[in-house]
Amino acid sequence: MDFNLSEEHQAVRNAARDFAQNQLLPQVIERDNLQKFDTGLVQAMGELGFMGMMVAPEYGGGGMDTLAYAIAIEEISKIDASAGVIMSVNNSLVCWGLEKYGSEDLKQKYLTRLATGEIIGAFCLSEPEAGSDATSQHTTAVDMGDHYLLNGTKNWITSGNTSSVCLVIAQTHPEKGHKGINVFAVEKGLEGFTIGRKEDKMGIRASDTHTLMFSDVKVPVENRIGEDGSGFKFAMSTLNGGRIGIAAQALGIAAGAFELSLKYSKERKTFGKPISEHQAIQFKLSEMATKIEAARLLVYKAARLKDEDKDYIQAAAMAKLYASDVAMWVTTEAVQVHGGYGYVKEYHVERLMRDAKITQIYEGTSEIQKLVIARELLK
Ligand code: CAA
Repeated sequence: MDFNLSEEHQAVRNAARDFAQNQLLPQVIERDNLQKFDTGLVQAMGELGFMGMMVAPEYGGGGMDTLAYAIAIEEISKIDASAGVIMSVNNSLVCWGLEKYGSEDLKQKYLTRLATGEIIGAFCLSEPEAGSDATSQHTTAVDMGDHYLLNGTKNWITSGNTSSVCLVIAQTHPEKGHKGINVFAVEKGLEGFTIGRKEDKMGIRASDTHTLMFSDVKVPVENRIGEDGSGFKFAMSTLNGGRIGIAAQALGIAAGAFELSLKYSKERKTFGKPISEHQAIQFKLSEMATKIEAARLLVYKAARLKDEDKDYIQAAAMAKLYASDVAMWVTTEAVQVHGGYGYVKEYHVERLMRDAKITQIYEGTSEIQKLVIARELLK
């Protein structure tokens, strides 16, 4: 077992850290306040190769491994977890799925632009009545020969407004249950495709989350990804990788809150000395650092397994389950370390605490991760 990062991985960490410090940090509070999705910053992430990190170079990607990707998300999410989720969805759920299961035509048409950040993508699985129970798809895609007729509503869609192409999961053969589900690359601008309301969220407020509606949208047959009926398999396998991205985001949120707490504890004085010299604070810092290190090992292990082409379903679920709990706990403690200052926006930790919560919910709630882990243990 080698715990050292390669030079390449260290270079990725440095590049992501520099970008986060120099470009994401200056306006991060304003973006959160205004719920402002900054297209320029996403383009800059694309130019640095962060939007299609694992995609093969022939399709415009960085050709990097999952570990490099997790490290980059970790560093970016330390500063701006909204940028972290935009990156995670585009890389793991959209680019990875298209590259693995899409036809050559779809790759040429969409992947080459998604991987460079020229356009961004969205992943549309959740519905008003299909969240954790993802097989229960009410959106329908009726086979009309040369096209599918898409009808339904998707919600909680990350980059719902700003994306140009959406991977939409829909039921084609209801009698076959989850084996009748398909997935389609659906372009914005098609007749009947409407962007619904923007959610006013607790956290990750600088990412745009929308409801999307489809009313008799004609999707060309060639835009179906994979074999007829393989859409649920597509969703589950992309989510396995997506969970590594969200686990890395949670890790970054926790590590960001910890770094701020460590710094603050050396500066802030009470009872005549820096609070870092009080055992009450030292114990908090020790526990934060230990949990973060354990979360990091789980995240990197899941990434490594994926890179080695080994089964990573359980490892990804464990990494997400644990890292998201650590993010929630560490950020809450970080606010406590900062006292009253932690409760105001200027000190960043209150935002990180709000951002942490979603990591226990999206891409499979903590309860779903436990279900996934239990099924793997028992099979
Ligand atoms: N990996 C691969 N395949 C899987 C899988 C996994 N993790 N989980 C289930 N499957 C497969 C099963 O093997 C089965 O396939 P076969 O029929 O060929 O054997 C099929 O999927 C159906 O599985 P189950 O019978 O176990 O179905 P279920 O309904 O009992 O449970 C579930 C399925 C695991 C609960 C699934 O619905 C699930 O993961 N739910 C959570 C959905 C989710 O993560 N949503 C996130 C939304 S996306 C998002 O948040 C993105 C964003 O914008 C940030």
